[in-house]
Amino acid sequence: MHFISEELEEYAAFHSENEPELLAALNKETHQKILQPRMLSGHFQGRVLSMISKLVNPMHILEIGTYTGYATLCLAEGLQQGGTLDTMDINEELYDFQRKYFDLSEWKDQITQHLGNALDIIPTLNKKFDLVFIDDDKENYINYFNMIVPLMNKGGIILSDNVLWSGKVLELVKSNDKSTRILLEYNKLLKEDTRVETVLLPIRDGLTVSRVI
Ligand SMILES: C[S@@+](CC[C@H](N)C(=O)[O-])C[C@H]1O[C@@H](n2cnc3c(N)ncnc32)[C@H](O)[C@@H]1O
Repeated sequence: MHFISEELEEYAAFHSENEPELLAALNKETHQKILQPRMLSGHFQGRVLSMISKLVNPMHILEIGTYTGYATLCLAEGLQQGGTLDTMDINEELYDFQRKYFDLSEWKDQITQHLGNALDIIPTLNKKFDLVFIDDDKENYINYFNMIVPLMNKGGIILSDNVLWSGKVLELVKSNDKSTRILLEYNKLLKEDTRVETVLLPIRDGLTVSRVI
């Protein structure tokens, strides 16, 4: 779904930074070989993630939902020297694909892949994070958020993807549509939770920026 016209989307992308070569190759190979390539953040949102990361200049980044590693590499662009990025995915078939591209990047020694359910992995991470990107199963967004807030440094940023869910947040929710129901609850929680200040950006499928107070 396009919230603004395709022409305006293209105009915005064209007047933003170009997609780095390595990411263009990753993007292409994902589309050629991997199921559901639309899960990948892509050129424009990737440049937004990169810009936010450079503004935050984090020491420790956490990404929940690696997929083929596109957003991982965008977020890594803002890492401090000696900083770390932990990323996790439940799909083991993606592991080698991710590693190939991480190894081709300048952050190869800073990125740690975790294989498994994020709900099990997050409590084992003994770090305080400056930047977190939540981008996996929507049904657990509230659980992830509540696990992550105590692991954040003050002033840290939590990014949540797909919060407009192709516009379904404005439609009548079907009784079996748990993802939309949880996202509606999640968006309300981010607005009301006094531990964060939040702005929902209508970028791509909706990207919320929450700053930990
Ligand atoms: C939307 S994709 C991530 C896209 C990626 N962040 C990007 O922007 O290029 C979501 C990923 O979350 C993974 N995932 C779903 N449920 C998960 C869970 N409970 N724990 C870990 N990963 C999960 C899926 O396997 C999928 O690869």
